[in-house]
Amino acid sequence: MSNQNSNTTPKQFLEAAIQIAQEAGTILREEFALPPDIRYKGDVDLVTQADKRSEQAIVARLSKYFPTHTVAAEEGTGHERGSEFRWHVDPLDGTTNFAHKYPCFAVSIALAQNDLVLAGVVYNPIYDELFAAARGEGATLNGNKISVSKVTTLSTSLLCTGFPVHKRLANPNIHYYYDFTLRSHGVRRDGSAALDLACVAAGRFDGFWEFGLKPWDTAAGVLLVQEAGGAISDFHGQPYALGGPVVLATNGLIHEEMRQTASAISQRDPAAPLQAPPQTIKK
Ligand code: IPD
Ligand code: CA
Ligand code: CA
Repeated sequence: MSNQNSNTTPKQFLEAAIQIAQEAGTILREEFALPPDIRYKGDVDLVTQADKRSEQAIVARLSKYFPTHTVAAEEGTGHERGSEFRWHVDPLDGTTNFAHKYPCFAVSIALAQNDLVLAGVVYNPIYDELFAAARGEGATLNGNKISVSKVTTLSTSLLCTGFPVHKRLANPNIHYYYDFTLRSHGVRRDGSAALDLACVAAGRFDGFWEFGLKPWDTAAGVLLVQEAGGAISDFHGQPYALGGPVVLATNGLIHEEMRQTASAISQRDPAAPLQAPPQTIKK
């Protein structure tokens, strides 16, 4: 990949992103085999040597292939070029899992043109699972086409969510977690938003929501879900803007039910004692 002109197709951008994500994945595999080297960015906000090495490799490669593009990378080594093309890079999504040797983490790389995501890749280097999507071209897992699930009701769905590492007490999600757990087959909390979204795209989860995610957490995953036939919005049913306050990603079939449930939860008094949602009590 040697230029970044307007004739480059989403598929060509994706090819570059895949190659770069695989290189970064090799670094994460190497680092995963070593004793953990954990630093703290905040209270429970961890950063490791792996985050830094992975980002360094990704940013170097993107700068070489696309010197005029902006690169927004989580650990701060990207660069603003004032370009309509912006790469969103999470060099290690799931750092806490990584640091505890739980092999659920990924590299997430996406390219957006004026906020429209054109290409995205999420790669778990331990399971060697590479989720990829180019706008208009569908979504794949290790080269095989994937689609969202066909589950039609919240009560028979498997969901996923996540919790932030900043301002944990201010985050309302525990109330949503409680309610959605009782209204579904369960809610997983796997610790990598990028993989959570990829799993919705692959039909493993039927829905995912989270508050306060950054563009590098969601850009690739959101495109994966859309290209796999799913739906993305905020809790008001408005389009999700990268970095928006909440993202709701589903197979499309349970989207409205989840959205209405979320809306009802948001109107409840958070200080009120928790009670089982009425229709969840089954003998
Ligand atoms: C985190 C993960 C986690 C989500 C947090 C993110 P990081 O990203 O995606 O699943 O719940 O909100 O900050 O810090 O591991 O890159
Ligand atoms: Ca992240
Ligand atoms: Ca990260």
